[in-house]
Formats: sequence, structure tokens, C-alpha cells
Amino acid sequence: MKKEIEAYKEEVKAFVADNSQKLESFRLKFISKKSVINDLFESFKQVAPEEKRVIGPALNELKQMAMARLKELSENLENSSATTSSIDVTLPPVYEKGSIHPLSRIKNRIIRIFERQGFSVADGPEIEDDFHNFTALNFPENHPAREMQDTYFIEKNPDILLRTHTSNVQIRLMENGKPPFKAIMPGRVYRNEAISARAHCFFHQVEGLHVDKNVSFKDLKQALYHFATEMFGKDTQIRFRPSFFPFTEPSAEIDISCFICGGSGCKICKQTGWVEIGGSGMVDPHVLESVNIDPKEYSGFAFGMGIERIAMLKYQIDDIRLFSENDLRFLQQF
Ligand code: PHE
Repeated sequence: MKKEIEAYKEEVKAFVADNSQKLESFRLKFISKKSVINDLFESFKQVAPEEKRVIGPALNELKQMAMARLKELSENLENSSATTSSIDVTLPPVYEKGSIHPLSRIKNRIIRIFERQGFSVADGPEIEDDFHNFTALNFPENHPAREMQDTYFIEKNPDILLRTHTSNVQIRLMENGKPPFKAIMPGRVYRNEAISARAHCFFHQVEGLHVDKNVSFKDLKQALYHFATEMFGKDTQIRFRPSFFPFTEPSAEIDISCFICGGSGCKICKQTGWVEIGGSGMVDPHVLESVNIDPKEYSGFAFGMGIERIAMLKYQIDDIRLFSENDLRFLQQF
């Protein structure tokens, strides 16, 4: 035992702790309740009385040495970290102001424009079930339109998924209330697409819904024309191209006259004079029926636009990935 004590004394003297983990390992080994020194005190109880006279003082000495060494090691460590990571109080202060993300800016502008037309703002979940994302929106079972939207499934049977569009909020809004409804629904959506400069696996949409007695295509045109002139300038023209969505009939793609070249043709509009900003249409009677609204009494229009798409047009950004990379050189420009 005497030899063991001497060996530990050497170890204590030679111990170096250049970081706090090492200091802690020293404490655990020599000072804590489970330390080797405590073990020695335990075994000391069994030692013959004549030996105790020799070993006792040696053991006490080891204990004192270990305590003194711990103090010394922790002081050394404190001093060294004080010199290496101290704050230079003579440096001038840095004022880094944050700014509003370009997508939030565009979203807020869209909301303000539609609020002035009497639309309120509605919200809904990003994790959705099949009924609200597809079935209630008149997507037939096994219909290719479901494939069209490259869905991320979280669970199968019953299907739980990341919503592929904000149209789920139409359904949630209508099933929980009575017409009239007049709301826009901004939010994030997900599609399993290869990430490139033009496409991302998540992006943002603003959807609009107006359901009341006698709502017609004329009202849809009026709402979007008003939006386009406020967002892109008073000379902006809009046009509707026939299209297909399961939840609207008739359906139309919304184009605006190119606000860069004024319609004469440029790089942004690919020389066509027009740029597409979203989809729209009259709410399909099946959709109204799925939320217990009588399509003979009520009609409605709906539209949906990509916020990234509008931000890219407005700010002439040519890579959608920039919005989510959080590169300060990009964000500071807004
Ligand atoms: N939900 C459609 C989409 O994501 C957009 C849309 C909304 C079209 C409402 C028509 C009416 O692509």
C-alpha cells in the first residue's frame, strides 16, 4: 500500500490540465467520493495497527497534495483562458442590423393588397392528411394529378403527408364555418423535386378563396387585375390561359404583361411579353359538396401563386436556392 501511495503522489505532482475536461478527470480520480484516495482510506481500515502508524500519515499527505494540486491546476487554467479569450474592450462596436427576408417582404405586400379588397388571412397545418390535401379537393383516387405534385409522405395508410399546396387551408376554412368566405392563405409547401436554380423541395404559396352567393369569374378577374396593378405597376395587363386543376372548373393560368420590358419581349419573359404568376379558377362544385356547401346556392373562385416566383420576378433573382441559404451577402441587399 505504501508503494501505491507513493506512485499516486508522483502522478498528482506530474498531472497537467490544459483544459477543463482534464481538470475534471483529475478531480474524479483523486478528490471525488469515488476517488482512488477514498478507496485507499477504505482499505486502510483493514491494515494492521503497527503499519497504520506509517501508512496513515503518508495517506493524509497524498490527500493534502491532491487538494492543493487541484487548486493550482484550476487557477492555472483560469489564467490561461483569461489571456487567450479575453474581450478587447478597445474595439469599436459593430452595428449589424437585420433586415426582413425578401420572401416575407413580398408575402406582406401581397397580404396588404388583398386585405384592402376585404380578404382576411387564414392559416393551416403543413403536415396534412390525404383528405384535406387531395380527396376533398376532388383529386380522384390513383389520379395522375396526385403524382403531378410529387408528394412527401410521412405515413402510408392512412396517408399523412407534407402539404403540396396551400389549398388544404381552403378545405379547413370551409369545413369549420359557413359561407361567405373571403380569405388568403400564405404558407410553406413541399414537393419532392430535384433542387435546382428553378425548383426547390419546399417553397411558399399564397392561395385565395372567395365563396359567396353569385361569385363569378368576373370577380376573379377583378381581384387579380387589382392585385397585378398594385404589385407590378398600374399599366400591368393580365390574361387568363385555359388550364386544369382538379379543384377548379373552369381553370386558368394567370399571366401578367412583363413589367420589365412592358410586353415587347426580354430575357425575363423569354421574349413572349408575358410571365406566369399562378393558377386560378372557379371552385369545382365537388369541392363545395365535400365540405357540405350547396353548390346550387354558393359559388366561388380560388387562385394560388408562388411567393418565390413573384419575389424572383420583382427583384430579378435567378436562383431560388438563394432564399434558403441565408448568405448575408444576399440578405443584406433587402
Ligand atoms: N393549388 C394549385 C397549385 O399548387 C394552385 C391553385 C390554387 C390553382 C387555387 C387554382 C386555384 O399548383
